[in-house]
Amino acid sequence: MALFRLCVTAVAGVAVGQLLSINDLSWFGVLGQGVGALSHDDAIPPQAQVIDQRSFNVLYSASPLSDPDGNAQFSPPGTTRESLVGRPFHIYDEEFLDIIGPNPTLTLLNHTESDPIFHEAPVWYPAKDEMFFVQNAGAKAAGTGLAKSAIIQKISLSTVTPAIASQRNASGSVKVEAVNSIPSVMNPNGATNYKGQLLFLGEGQGETTAPAMYLMNPEPPYNTTVILDNFFGRQFNSLNDASINPRNGEIYFTDPTYGYVQDFRPPPGMPKQVWRFNEATGAVAVAADGFNMPNGIAFSPNGAHLYVADTGMAQAFYGSNFSFPSTIYRYNVNEDGTLENRKTFAFVTPGVPDGLHLDTKGNVYVGCGDGMQVYNPSGKLVGKIYTGSVSANFQFAGEGRMVVLAETELYFVTLAAEGAFPGRLY
Ligand SMILES: *[C@@H]1O[C@H](CO)[C@@H](O)[C@H](O)[C@H]1NC(C)=O
Ligand SMILES: *[C@@H]1O[C@H](CO)[C@@H](O)[C@H](O)[C@H]1NC(C)=O
Ligand SMILES: *[C@@H]1O[C@H](CO)[C@@H](O)[C@H](O)[C@H]1NC(C)=O
Ligand SMILES: *[C@@H]1O[C@H](CO)[C@@H](O)[C@H](O)[C@H]1NC(C)=O
Repeated sequence: MALFRLCVTAVAGVAVGQLLSINDLSWFGVLGQGVGALSHDDAIPPQAQVIDQRSFNVLYSASPLSDPDGNAQFSPPGTTRESLVGRPFHIYDEEFLDIIGPNPTLTLLNHTESDPIFHEAPVWYPAKDEMFFVQNAGAKAAGTGLAKSAIIQKISLSTVTPAIASQRNASGSVKVEAVNSIPSVMNPNGATNYKGQLLFLGEGQGETTAPAMYLMNPEPPYNTTVILDNFFGRQFNSLNDASINPRNGEIYFTDPTYGYVQDFRPPPGMPKQVWRFNEATGAVAVAADGFNMPNGIAFSPNGAHLYVADTGMAQAFYGSNFSFPSTIYRYNVNEDGTLENRKTFAFVTPGVPDGLHLDTKGNVYVGCGDGMQVYNPSGKLVGKIYTGSVSANFQFAGEGRMVVLAETELYFVTLAAEGAFPGRLY
């Protein structure tokens, strides 16, 4: 049934004026009426649209290699930025219909002029139904800069009523509160649920404040305890993100050099690696190497796979290098916790694949340069939740809800999928 619905409405993604062959018409069905035909079919949710990838297989106008721009937004022929934002759930494959359900919504909850206060480390605290997140540590547009970057914030999801979620722009209707962690998490960048508390990864500051892993009490007074800050006496580069292996409870984490390329940490003194930490025994060990910038990291719900994003294309103050990875890799996770069979899972554009999270069915969601892109477990792009701007990270809040951090914008999403939370098991 879903396939039929998709077929009869797919024509909306076709360029105006593009000639359709007989085969095209049978694929689209005779109902195709060009752009705008969607409004006649209630099977496609009101905030969704089909993007037909065949409409841009041949462009004659792709940007030359002498002027590459892996950060540029791409509008398929027949669409505009406005039409893409207008119906932000982009169906690339019918599988996406089950993920978004009949009435997905995207709502702007707050925004700033230029200060990137909605950046990373979104983590849900189910007991109080709150979403915590952090500001951008190194960005030049960050108001008071690094002094402000230690600020963790939160919103109460119970205050996001259905009436609010039904609006596209509900800016200002939900309170954004600062959380003063004590002692402060220094330049937090990643977070995950761990043993009923929140685990933050701090990037460190200057020569002497080492990157560290902090456990934070999710209740006032938000006291923290550092649980790791070195490997046999050597500082990490700038800890970025973590995920809990649901089979052995160990913390797997990434250590790129974003502190250095944003001028708040010294030059790298370690390879850029994925590590694992067994808090019970204290053992720290490398889990994988061979990255340019290991970044987002997430286990599949059953722990059989580990996904790691490499955002090497983004070198922060050193610009973008479009011949570097913008890539998600997938490993098989062995029973003993070792990783093998690194597979190239997805190459992403525009921007880089940053925060990674999975739903309970194993679909992979990733924060990219144009919003969240959603890949099925075979690495097929099935859809996008399109914001039209850099959306570094996001997080599920259980079933059917998601919070998206798009630097100067904070969004709330409703959809059918449910987030997988390996970290809650430990
Ligand atoms: C959302 O509404 C606010 C006013 O409440 C306005 O300032 C802002 O420009 C709107 N944003 C968008 C993207 O429409
Ligand atoms: C954003 O949230 C803050 C804190 O709740 C509030 O003071 C501000 O008015 C909000 N701004 C917008 C544009 O939503
Ligand atoms: C917070 O403080 C309480 C009371 O001293 C303590 O039991 C708890 O372990 C602390 N939590 C963290 C994460 O430091
Ligand atoms: C990108 O990386 C390649 C390979 O290291 C290097 O040759 C090139 O100079 C880099 N370009 C930029 C703009 O950094």
